[in-house]
Amino acid sequence: MTTKNHQKVVLVGDGAVGSSYAYSMMNQGIAEEFVIVDVIKERTEGDALDLEDAQVFTAPKKVYSGDYSDAKDADVVVITAGAPQKPGETRLDLVNKNLKILSSIVKPIVDSGFDGIFVVAANPVDILTYATWKFSGFPKEKVIGSGTSLDTARLRVALAKKIDVDPRDVNAYIMGEHGDSEFAAFDEASVAGKPLKTIAKEKGISDDDLAKIEDDTRNKAYEIINRKGATFYGVATCLMRITRAILRDENAVLPIGAALNGEYGLNDIFIGTPAIVNASGLAGVVELPLSAKEKDLMAKSAETLKKVTADGLA
Ligand code: NAI
Ligand code: LAC
Repeated sequence: MTTKNHQKVVLVGDGAVGSSYAYSMMNQGIAEEFVIVDVIKERTEGDALDLEDAQVFTAPKKVYSGDYSDAKDADVVVITAGAPQKPGETRLDLVNKNLKILSSIVKPIVDSGFDGIFVVAANPVDILTYATWKFSGFPKEKVIGSGTSLDTARLRVALAKKIDVDPRDVNAYIMGEHGDSEFAAFDEASVAGKPLKTIAKEKGISDDDLAKIEDDTRNKAYEIINRKGATFYGVATCLMRITRAILRDENAVLPIGAALNGEYGLNDIFIGTPAIVNASGLAGVVELPLSAKEKDLMAKSAETLKKVTADGLA
């Protein structure tokens, strides 16, 4: 049984994203027990043996290769199992392949008696988060997607370079699909409470410059995949941050893939938005006061997701 002082995470999918997440969790000393599950059993055994050596310089952790039954008393299950994009592929192109993989994972986890929080990263992540909710029968609040956390990180890095501040001090969000229909909520962005648009004007950064930053953010995954074949460190750190917010009951505001109940005029969807994350999972959506144009972009992004979800889950 896990307690506040002994917390357990099960990782399903020990590939580039999963193993990077496992390493990040080890480095940050988060969770006292960490189980790695994958169809390639030997990989999980090797990773567990490799990772356990790191605890000597970070924090004690029981890390081992396991299976879905180990989820019974876990606090969090993180799902990274799924095929990644090949160069030229969009995330949405992965939907059928990865829904099939997901359906073989969620049921055995629920059957184990798991009653914690699902965190989903496999792509197309918003649709697989929705599907995890559907397949598990869990309350929506106990299913969280990585959403636009990685995209938001990319936006903050790009803006920080442009205005010469620490990326951690840039308060700006990418919203909508973790994908080609995502958008930057520039109208609500700020640094130290000063509107980003004001800072941009003072620094001679034009609307076209901001549009380019948004575009580069939207396309950064393709740039990385074209060069190194996949992306994994950025999202692994997002997953570590979301897991920490849950395990430490932080009430952290993070740009996750959250279930909407009327926010932005949307229902029956998981989509990227700032939201409050704590031990209960999704504690609440922070609904930004989007401009009319941004509301339209959010609606269009939701429409894209709903169409692919309907086709995929038909
Ligand atoms: P990968 O191919 O390196 O790893 C996938 C792992 O899943 C493999 O180890 C494979 O054996 C395992 N797997 C496949 N079917 C399984 C099953 N039925 N049960 C258990 N394990 C299974 O791929 P990578 O690069 O780790 O990407 C994983 C997923 O994460 C992809 O869908 C990718 O698009 C997505 N991703 C999502 C991001 C986000 O921001 N949400 C960012 C980066 C990647
Ligand atoms: C990314 C893709 C792989 O944003 O989802 O890195």
